Amino acid sequence: MATHSAVVTVGPGLPLEIIHLPAPTPRDNEICVRPLWAAATPLDLHQADGGLLVQPPQVLGDGIVGTVIELGPTATKYRVGDTVFGFTWRTQAEKGHQEVVVAPEFLFGKVPGNVSLQAAVTLPNNFVSAWHTLTKDLGFELPWPKPEGYVPREREQWILIWGGGSSVGQFALQILKWYGYTNLATTASKAHHEKLQRYGAAKCFDYRDADVEAQLLSFAPTGFPFILDCIGNLNGSVLPISRALSSSSSTVKLAILLPIIIRDPGPGTTPIYSMDVSTILGTPWPANVEAVGVRTHFYLDNEFLKEKLQSEIMPSLLEWGVIEPNEVVLVEGGTMLERAERALAILREKGVSGQRVVWRVCEDT
Ligand SMILES: NC(=O)c1ccc[n+]([C@@H]2O[C@H](COP(=O)([O-])OP(=O)(O)OC[C@H]3O[C@@H](n4cnc5c(N)ncnc54)[C@H](OP(=O)(O)O)[C@@H]3O)[C@@H](O)[C@H]2O)c1
Repeated sequence: MATHSAVVTVGPGLPLEIIHLPAPTPRDNEICVRPLWAAATPLDLHQADGGLLVQPPQVLGDGIVGTVIELGPTATKYRVGDTVFGFTWRTQAEKGHQEVVVAPEFLFGKVPGNVSLQAAVTLPNNFVSAWHTLTKDLGFELPWPKPEGYVPREREQWILIWGGGSSVGQFALQILKWYGYTNLATTASKAHHEKLQRYGAAKCFDYRDADVEAQLLSFAPTGFPFILDCIGNLNGSVLPISRALSSSSSTVKLAILLPIIIRDPGPGTTPIYSMDVSTILGTPWPANVEAVGVRTHFYLDNEFLKEKLQSEIMPSLLEWGVIEPNEVVLVEGGTMLERAERALAILREKGVSGQRVVWRVCEDT
């Protein structure tokens, strides 16, 4: 029986391993893709080091760019040989860090010709996360196609993107800017402020400033009506946000990207996570704060986004230059396993800042 190699986590904190899986056959509207490049994401680390929502041995990875090698009987969007990129995660067969991925065609988009494959692979996971959070969790309309002269109804209200330097934060700002949102504030380290202003941030705060909460309070004494916490770290974002909201009495919609990291993954450190946003260390949020935990994996509940987000909206905005990909750091290594391990090590050591770690999956050129 034909098989292919896949990178798996076999248990929290254990070295990654290679397993051999049977070659899949695409059914219905599925396509088979041979991944060329993968982006390493914090979720890979949460799963490999923290065992978050995994049943080992589990294939890692959920953002790939690759070549279509086979079509299911009712697949119509792509041809064999097309280069596609996608956020695919739901089954072992869909996960990205393996030599063949099989998933429905709506989980992919065609890579525009004006963008490198390594740059394109920085998008799928977090472009989808940003879009889903802005529409589902914060309730913004983001109509597609964007009507001529569109003005968002929340245009006058301030939106705080905590962690604008993160991959999700960068995409969220760029999407909001394109839709005409102008009152965008963000927290990020200083090195990223210039880029984030270009992405639409009207006001940047340095989250490392000891008095950042006081700065936020003095900038928005009545609070921010909308907050997107792209970091979801108890000490790094959730507690500072709660303190910066302490004097606010008006309604706040707060979307926190799950998991909440109680203890960070790091070399030799077992991470601790929580999936509960209803309280902060056991204390409920004040009544005016509507806190929701973001679960992008549910974006397919929206039939329109299921059909359009990855196959049409993502490639179009990338091709038009509306969305700039994340800056890429390429990982070298002699084998797929070595590259996967090195990519995770870089994330574990916090070796990149505002960049996406990208590595080669299959060796084909
Ligand atoms: N639940 C979901 O649906 C979902 C979807 C996507 C992502 N996520 C989660 O969201 C988190 C972010 O993902 P990502 O891929 O966007 O991460 P990322 O790009 O790896 O984010 C790292 C960046 O965040 C910045 N940062 C770190 N701590 C910060 C803090 N306390 N305040 C402000 N900025 C801070 C750092 O900036 P400096 O280097 O400049 O300090 C760093 O560059 C991860 O935990 C991920 O698992 C969840």
